[in-house]
Amino acid sequence: MIDHNPMQHFHKWFYEADELYKDREPNAMSLTTIGLDNYPKSRIVLLKKYTWEGFIFFTNYESDKGLAITLNPKVCLLFNWTHSNRMIQVSGKAFKIAKEVSSNYFDLRPRESQLGAWTSQQSQVIASRNVLQDRFSKFENQFKNKEIPKPEFWGGYLIKPTEFHFHQTQDQEFRCQESYYLKEDYSWSKDTQIRLNTY
Ligand SMILES: Cc1cc2nc3c(=O)[nH]c(=O)nc-3n(C[C@H](O)[C@H](O)[C@H](O)COP(=O)(O)O)c2cc1C
Repeated sequence: MIDHNPMQHFHKWFYEADELYKDREPNAMSLTTIGLDNYPKSRIVLLKKYTWEGFIFFTNYESDKGLAITLNPKVCLLFNWTHSNRMIQVSGKAFKIAKEVSSNYFDLRPRESQLGAWTSQQSQVIASRNVLQDRFSKFENQFKNKEIPKPEFWGGYLIKPTEFHFHQTQDQEFRCQESYYLKEDYSWSKDTQIRLNTY
């Protein structure tokens, strides 16, 4: 029996997806933000941790998504695990996590990834691969024989959910949708619908 808390529900599904499809990055999720031009934009990011509070991923705060979140923290996440016929939509608000928490995670990353974070000016157009390689080498030299600190512009976001939709396709005709909505007293209401697949 799934608990009335949607994070419990998420945990069960994620655990099952992780067991079955470890090699297929079950933690890859689509993140949709509302852009500076007022249009939604999606991209894939990796879920690195989830807690009772919500979902954490790491990024460049100065990227398009970072700027979009600054302007409008309302976002949508989508997990699509086709092999188990499951999809989860999560709506919520994004908050920067504490610097120390981002630093702790950054310190655990391989050196290459740390240099990558310094090198990559996410969402910027680069003239060529060589330009990127030169930047990488520049930081490699700068931090030679030193610990690499977390760049100021890099860190995590916590998505605090306000709504969940768990979709389970049952057969060719039907799918079950279990929805949770955050109430003012911070408890969740839940409804279950059986829907006809119309595709
Ligand atoms: C499998 C996969 C995982 C990715 N994970 C991340 C991630 O965890 N964080 C991130 O910033 N970008 C990640 N990216 C790159 C983003 O999809 C995106 O290209 C980049 O963050 C720039 O997005 P933006 O210009 O919309 O901000 C990933 C891409 C792929 C294909």
